[in-house]
Amino acid sequence: MRKLQKGHDKRLIDLLSNVLYEIERYNISIEKAFVKTCSLKRCSKDSEERERLFQLTKEFIKNVIRLRCIYGDIGRKNLARIFLEGTWRDESSIEPWCIYSVPKWFYERLRELLGEEAHDLFRSIDKRVIWLRINILKASEEKIVRSLEEDGVILERDKDLWYLYKVIDSRKPLREIKAVKDFMAIPQDKASCLVVEALRPERNDKILDMSAAPGIKTSLIAMLTEDQAKIYALDISKKRLYIMKELLKKFGVKSSVDITLADGRYVPAREKIFDKTLIDAPCSSSGAIWKDPSIRLSLLKKNKIDYYSNIQKDLVREAIKMSRIIVYATCSLLPEEGELIVRSFKDQVVFERPLKKFSTGYSKYDPEGLFNRTFPHKDESEGFFISKMIVI
Ligand SMILES: C[S@@+](CC[C@H](N)C(=O)[O-])C[C@H]1O[C@@H](n2cnc3c(N)ncnc32)[C@H](O)[C@@H]1O
Repeated sequence: MRKLQKGHDKRLIDLLSNVLYEIERYNISIEKAFVKTCSLKRCSKDSEERERLFQLTKEFIKNVIRLRCIYGDIGRKNLARIFLEGTWRDESSIEPWCIYSVPKWFYERLRELLGEEAHDLFRSIDKRVIWLRINILKASEEKIVRSLEEDGVILERDKDLWYLYKVIDSRKPLREIKAVKDFMAIPQDKASCLVVEALRPERNDKILDMSAAPGIKTSLIAMLTEDQAKIYALDISKKRLYIMKELLKKFGVKSSVDITLADGRYVPAREKIFDKTLIDAPCSSSGAIWKDPSIRLSLLKKNKIDYYSNIQKDLVREAIKMSRIIVYATCSLLPEEGELIVRSFKDQVVFERPLKKFSTGYSKYDPEGLFNRTFPHKDESEGFFISKMIVI
């Protein structure tokens, strides 16, 4: 870690403390908080310098809980200053949740669920694997892979999904890579693809995507069905649906998606029967703390889990009225947003384990092995809960 240098130290402290303020005040992602702060603080326009600042900010946000463990509840600027000085790294006599820089309750819950394995999970926190999905709606696989390799991206084909590649190395940030800028290769986590695999979408299926924006999974459904499934995509957020509309065009999805602004808990009456429904439910995103360190801070508000659990149950309840096959998934490591949600419908559905190759749910809540969970330390992916229900 760099030692603090006089001169640009004040600007850096301002930047870091402001990003932290934005995250804590508005509960937004690190990327949004950084862009907002950078526009106010006039960060360098140079893309390399900006990338360096972003990585430094990410490292800071990742360590906020740890720093507060050591130094108590001090102001954001002081926290940023101490972080930049770097001496805090020598502090080792703190509790594990402080070392992993996650909320205490979250650490304790995962220890309860996974035992010693929780340490492997938390230790994998800094080893994020980036996946690229080849988008054959835009070009052939061969052409896309060639374009990526010509741009200096070193790839390894995934052993499970033919359209997925692991990024081993890249000369430039992915957003500057031609195939990514042209939407021929889409950054999409492996677990997110597995959710769509669990749905097994087929040509001519009529599919409801209940919380669809910004449409990453919708576009994979379209790709796997060669744009031949009829997809009804709902979301409650107008802004996210707008982004989705634009993205689907860019992804080359042509005719198959009907987008509606609606609350999935009360689906508009006109389209009531579907072959399959995907519920990629809103959740705590605890399975994605590897991607976005701001989630560590949002998890401090534990009562948010109840808020999401209620919405999740309402979405499943509504889906059962309209569809025979339902895939319910969350990017969450918590059974309160996974096993416990779907099990509460056990009298109305039968469960079918979606993916034979992947881990089952937590043994305490899934003793029969009916569900799937993915984990960063096992699957090099985000932590997802995936279930499949057949309505009886
Ligand atoms: C996990 S994200 C979906 C990501 C999306 N499936 C994808 O792959 O790009 C959850 C989404 O649920 C939406 N949402 C939250 N409450 C909702 C509700 N009651 N009805 C429909 N959508 C809702 C949010 O706006 C958000 O876009």
